[in-house]
Amino acid sequence: MKIACLGGGPAGLYSAISIKLRDATHDVTVFERNRPNDTFGWGVVFSNETFDNIASNDPASAQAIREHFAYWDDIAVNYRGERIVSTGHGFSGIARKTLLLLLQERASELGAKLRFQTEIASAGELAKEYDFVIAADGLNSKTRNEFAHAFKPAIDTRKNKFVWLGTRQKFDDAFTFIFEETEHGWVWAHAYQFDADTATFIVESSESVWRKFGFATMSQDESCRTCERIFERYLGGHRLMSNATHLRGSAWLNFPRVLCETWSHENIVLMGDAAATAHFSVGSGTKLAMESAIAMADYLASEPTLQAAFAKYEDARRTEVLRLQSAARNSLEWFEDVERYLHLDPVQFNYSLLTRSQRISHENLRLRDRDWLEGAEAWFQRLAGAGDNTIRRPMFAPFRLRDMRLKNRIVVSPMAQYKAVDGCPTDWHLVHYGERAKGGAALVCTEMTCVSPEGRITPGCTGMYAPEHERAWTRIVDFVHAETDAKICCQLGHSGAKGSTQLGWEEMDAPLKSGNWPVMAPSPVTWSERNQRARAMTRADMDRVREEFVVAAEMAARAGFDMLEIHCAHGYLLSSFITPLTNWRTDNYGGSLQNRMRYPLEIFQAVREVWPAAKPISVRISANDWVGAEGIEPRDAVGIGRMLQEAGVDICDVSAGQTSVKARPVYGRMFQTPFSDRIRNEIGIATMAVGNIYEPDHVNSILMAGRADLVCLARPHLANPYWTLHAAARLGDRGEAWPPPYYAGRDQLYRLAGSGEPPAGAV
Ligand SMILES: Cc1cc2nc3c(=O)[nH]c(=O)nc-3n(C[C@H](O)[C@H](O)[C@H](O)COP(=O)(O)OP(=O)(O)OC[C@H]3O[C@@H](n4cnc5c(N)ncnc54)[C@H](O)[C@@H]3O)c2cc1C
Ligand SMILES: Cc1cc2nc3c(=O)[nH]c(=O)nc-3n(C[C@H](O)[C@H](O)[C@H](O)COP(=O)(O)O)c2cc1C
Repeated sequence: MKIACLGGGPAGLYSAISIKLRDATHDVTVFERNRPNDTFGWGVVFSNETFDNIASNDPASAQAIREHFAYWDDIAVNYRGERIVSTGHGFSGIARKTLLLLLQERASELGAKLRFQTEIASAGELAKEYDFVIAADGLNSKTRNEFAHAFKPAIDTRKNKFVWLGTRQKFDDAFTFIFEETEHGWVWAHAYQFDADTATFIVESSESVWRKFGFATMSQDESCRTCERIFERYLGGHRLMSNATHLRGSAWLNFPRVLCETWSHENIVLMGDAAATAHFSVGSGTKLAMESAIAMADYLASEPTLQAAFAKYEDARRTEVLRLQSAARNSLEWFEDVERYLHLDPVQFNYSLLTRSQRISHENLRLRDRDWLEGAEAWFQRLAGAGDNTIRRPMFAPFRLRDMRLKNRIVVSPMAQYKAVDGCPTDWHLVHYGERAKGGAALVCTEMTCVSPEGRITPGCTGMYAPEHERAWTRIVDFVHAETDAKICCQLGHSGAKGSTQLGWEEMDAPLKSGNWPVMAPSPVTWSERNQRARAMTRADMDRVREEFVVAAEMAARAGFDMLEIHCAHGYLLSSFITPLTNWRTDNYGGSLQNRMRYPLEIFQAVREVWPAAKPISVRISANDWVGAEGIEPRDAVGIGRMLQEAGVDICDVSAGQTSVKARPVYGRMFQTPFSDRIRNEIGIATMAVGNIYEPDHVNSILMAGRADLVCLARPHLANPYWTLHAAARLGDRGEAWPPPYYAGRDQLYRLAGSGEPPAGAV
């Protein structure tokens, strides 16, 4: 077969090598516009874990590449005058130029023809002469543009500015991050050695800082001199150098995130950066390009037709590329939002940086550098007031809100049980909440407990509006306090337009088959086409509901609850005031976010006045309506959080969604945690994270990185009331208290977990 590789970067050259290795009879030509020695950029990094596939594809070139590797294990973070080093990360670096020369040599040796200084004007024309064209023409691929209708590229140009420089200063002991505060704001560098005397030095900043420095109008030389001044302390008198002769101006760029909908068209296939890019901060672009080249060569050899090979290639590579792009997106967003984290203590800042892509988990960090992680855990525990010598996972650190002391950071998230009778909790609730309180979570939150009969979501919802409700709740709270060391929080709410609906396991959010009651909301909205239209609340309605919240809070106080949560999320009454999707009022309670927050804050203030001063109040919000700019977006949630903080709310429980039937949530592990992170770190209010958090590792990394103060788990606690105690057993932590009648079960679990008997006296 006559094959053309358009582009002599890693993707083009490694395709030529991989194809020739599988079938030497193929006639392969690589076309490259530059000379063999011309190359922009400095070094590239590979992580040790990722080099294995490359080594097994072609041991010869892998060996040659390895011989030129600079290795390092450490990551050093210079921040606020401290240099924190962690180890076990296993990277290697090589000059891009050396890599390309080695690949050129190997491709020639295997019989591929290399045509340098050959500009290809059109891949389409090339494709007429060749059976198969691999378009590996890089980030600004002309082929991608030529056949944009087929490849359907999505290009997302990211916010930060960066420039790829080199230096003779040695960074040979660690991959080094340097964060410098300048007269114009923060600028940072990613530096790593790639041969005996040269290191890559990528400088990055926000666009506004970049503008203030005037980089936009500088020459490359002026830009290097300015960066030298910024990083003077780290450069030991060495210069910063640019070799971006192919770029105009100061050579600063914005990273374009590229993903094409399809990667093949007729006999052309896109590869490497032309098809998909991964941000440089995860250091995987070259590996991605080379692994795609391996996959394409494999399928070319194994499949009967080109089209079948293309289909397999796309299938196999797309998942891997999306996985890496997702990690790269987390990482680049961390750098885009870095100013959010610049108040953090160096230990936590470092942890946040190391775990930014979410590929490295808490326990994975322990495997890399146990000492460093234990130091960080000890720091966390110390800050939490656990004492100087405690090394336990962050999930087992105490927490305090007003006078309420929690033994750990796990919360049983509110979950409607639909088992109440006329609003009254039953024995179901006693057993359900009792079990969760015995299960090890520090805080058990009740389901949305409604402030009036018509404020219930369903006929099975619990209430707090009649003396028998108070009595039933008192019995539950008393049990929790008498038999466990968990605290219990009462979530108070009003259903608004989502009221008068069926039980959760019937048809959720659908109207009752009979016996519907009238519903009200800020505006005359309907939850869905099937639900009744709500009556717009009058001022008198608002006063009455506020009074109902106050009465319910007084009853909850008498029942002995340790904490209150006001439910302002998920489209229920107070949430429907906050989101513009359901609040169309033209009075002081509609319009701006401040106006839309007025009524929920009025309720909070009225409740706060009657709720004991020593006890905290939380507010649960939906931080994203998931409908785009029409609704609440995470940046609005920061404004909401700020208003809650100013009003004196102790903690913000950051949920999302359920405010519109049009919502299109993007699910995933910990998918709502970024909203908590943003609110906590941009305003400094305590937060709870919730949503698809189900592993102790998730919880620990959220807490240690400062993305939340408490972590709520809902469904995992339906499946296992003893989630926390089981997690502790599995992790070898023996510090969590079990109910004494269950000691035999505890001891067996400890033994089965492989860590032997509990220490004497541990409960
Ligand atoms: C600042 C920065 C740091 C990076 N750091 C790393 C890192 O540490 N590790 C890592 O793995 N990756 C890194 N990358 C990414 C890496 O450089 C790319 O992902 C990788 O080079 C992609 O290989 P490629 O072959 O697809 O494209 P390229 O390497 O861009 O190769 C494309 C080639 O095609 C040629 N070409 C283009 N058009 C034509 C034409 N019309 N005719 C003839 N020739 C043409 C070009 O001259 C070029 O040589 C970094 C990128 C940046 C921007
Ligand atoms: C059965 C069930 C009932 C729920 N009821 C409530 C509720 O009454 N109040 C509330 O704020 N959230 C409620 N939620 C939402 C949970 O508190 C939580 O935010 C959501 O389930 C995501 O967490 P998870 O991924 O850990 O399940 C409920 C969730 C479930 C599964």
